[in-house]
Amino acid sequence: MNNLKNDLYVRACKRLPVERTPIWIMRQAGRYLPEYRTIREKYDFLTMCKTPELAAEVTIQPVDILGVDAAIIFSDILVIPEAMGMPFEMNEGRGPVFYHPIRSDEDEKQLKEISAADDLKYVLDAISLAKKELDGRVPLIGFSGAPWTLLTYMVEGQGSKTFSNVKKLIYNNPELAHKILNKLTDAIADYLSAQIEAGADAIQIFDTWAGNLSSRDYLVFALKYVNQLILKIKRKDEPIVYFPKGVHYRMRTTADCGADVIGVDWTIDLAKARDKVGNKVAIQGNLDPTVLYAEPNFIRREARKVLQSYGEGTGHIFNLGHGILPDINPDHAKVLVDYIKEKSGQYHLADLATLKR
Ligand code: CP3
Repeated sequence: MNNLKNDLYVRACKRLPVERTPIWIMRQAGRYLPEYRTIREKYDFLTMCKTPELAAEVTIQPVDILGVDAAIIFSDILVIPEAMGMPFEMNEGRGPVFYHPIRSDEDEKQLKEISAADDLKYVLDAISLAKKELDGRVPLIGFSGAPWTLLTYMVEGQGSKTFSNVKKLIYNNPELAHKILNKLTDAIADYLSAQIEAGADAIQIFDTWAGNLSSRDYLVFALKYVNQLILKIKRKDEPIVYFPKGVHYRMRTTADCGADVIGVDWTIDLAKARDKVGNKVAIQGNLDPTVLYAEPNFIRREARKVLQSYGEGTGHIFNLGHGILPDINPDHAKVLVDYIKEKSGQYHLADLATLKR
C-alpha cells in the first residue's frame, strides 16, 4: 500500500485488520514542542507555512519525538481565506484575526476565485517535500477546514463565544451564506484533490465550529456541503476523515456523508458512537485533551478506558477529542503514545489471526 513501512493508520481508516490501534494527535506539530518553538522564534507563523523546508521539518518533528503513526502537514485551515484575499494576523493568545471580515454582498464580491495549483502551491510543495523526507515511515495526512468552519472564521473575523455575526448572516441573508458556502466547497475540493495529487495519503476535514449550529441547521449549513465536497474530491483510495466537533448527537446521519472515518470529541463514549455508526465508518478519537495535564498513571488509565470503550477489532484511530493544548508537557504526550503502542494489541487478536492466515 503506497510503499508505507507503517500503514496502520490507513488500514484502520479503511477498517482493514491491524496488529494494534494506530495513534496520532491533532495539532501534534505545535507550540507544546520546544523543538517547534525554537523554529517559531525565528519565523512568523505564515512564513513557516509558506516555506516548504520549514513546514516539512515541523511536520516530521512529532514523528521523531513522539513516534506517532501518522504525520499531518504543517499548515492552517485559514490559508484558503487568505488566498481568497483575506489577510489575517496570528495574535499571541487571541488566535487568528482577519482585518476585514465578510458581512455583506459587497464583501463577498471581493473574494477571489482561487486555484490551488497556483495560489496554494506552497502547501503542495510542502506535502511533496514532507513525503520525500518521511520516506514512507508513516502516512502523511493532508487537511482543510470544512466550508461551515471557514465561513464562520471569514464572517466572525476571529474565534467567538456567541457566533453572532455568522448567525445573523444565516438567519437574515441565507442566500449569501449559501453562495459563499458553495464557493468554499469548490475551492476546498480543488485544494484537497491537489493535496492528494501532491502525495497526501489521507485527508482530514476539520469542522471545528459545527457544534455551534442547531441540530437542523447542522444538516443545512454544514453537513450538506461536506457531502458535496467529498463527492468532488479526486482520489484513488485515500481515506477521508470528517471531524464535526460537538455534534456526536448526529452520528448516524453524519456517517452517511461519504467519509471513511468520523472524528468524535470526548463528550460521547466510543462504544455508543460505534453502536450508532455500525460498520459504515471507522471512528477517530477521543481522549479529553486536558487529561494530558494529569500524571502518567492517570493518563494510562484514561487511555485504557477509551480503548475499552471502542472494544475489539479494527476501525479505531486513537486521538485526542480535539487539538493538544500548547502548555502540555511533551513527555505526557509520549506516555500516551507509548501506552497505546504497547497495550492496544490485545484488542486486535482476531485481526491478527486474519492477518496470519
Ligand atoms: O495538526 C497539526 O499539527 C497540523 C497543523 C495545524 C495547525 N492548525 C497549525 C497551527 C492544523 C491541522 C490546524 C488546523 C486549525 N487551525 C483548526 C482546526 C483544528 C482545531 O484545532 O479545531 C483551526 C480552528 C485553526 C485556526 C487556528 N490556527 C487557531 C484558532 C489558532 C490559534 C490558537 C492555537 O491553537 O494556537 C491557530 C494557530 C496555529 N495553527 C498554530 C499552529 C501550530 C499556533 C501558531 C503559533 O505558532 O503561534
